[in-house]
Amino acid sequence: MHPLLEKDHQQLIDLIDDLDKCVLKGNSINQATKYLDAFITLAEDEFKNEERIMEAYKYPEIIDHKKEHVRLLEQLRSLHSKLSKGHTPFGKDYMQRLRNWLEGHLLDADNRLEEFLYQINADSNKIEK
Ligand SMILES: [Fe+2]
Ligand SMILES: [Fe+2]
Repeated sequence: MHPLLEKDHQQLIDLIDDLDKCVLKGNSINQATKYLDAFITLAEDEFKNEERIMEAYKYPEIIDHKKEHVRLLEQLRSLHSKLSKGHTPFGKDYMQRLRNWLEGHLLDADNRLEEFLYQINADSNKIEK
């Protein structure tokens, strides 16, 4: 994983794991909502950070990547509002979907961004020599 993105990504994965354990143990909705709050805050920061990097390096896929971030946040917020209204969408299936979209984004869009950043690095090293 690229060092510019690694820490945030690892934290997101850790939070999904915590949320997963919380759901499996049948902990309270309150507890699950707290993890989800933390997850949304971290995702917002992570996406902003990534978008700054994409802008700084003039990443060609920035528009599509940003759209994906917006879609992911919408899904998270809608889940949050269901939870806070007392609906309980959390269960194994829901957690699996949450994990799938996180991993899907990391493996696809974020992975392409990382390859681009590594490529820029390699190119600038070549120029320096
Ligand atoms: Fe990311
Ligand atoms: Fe991303």
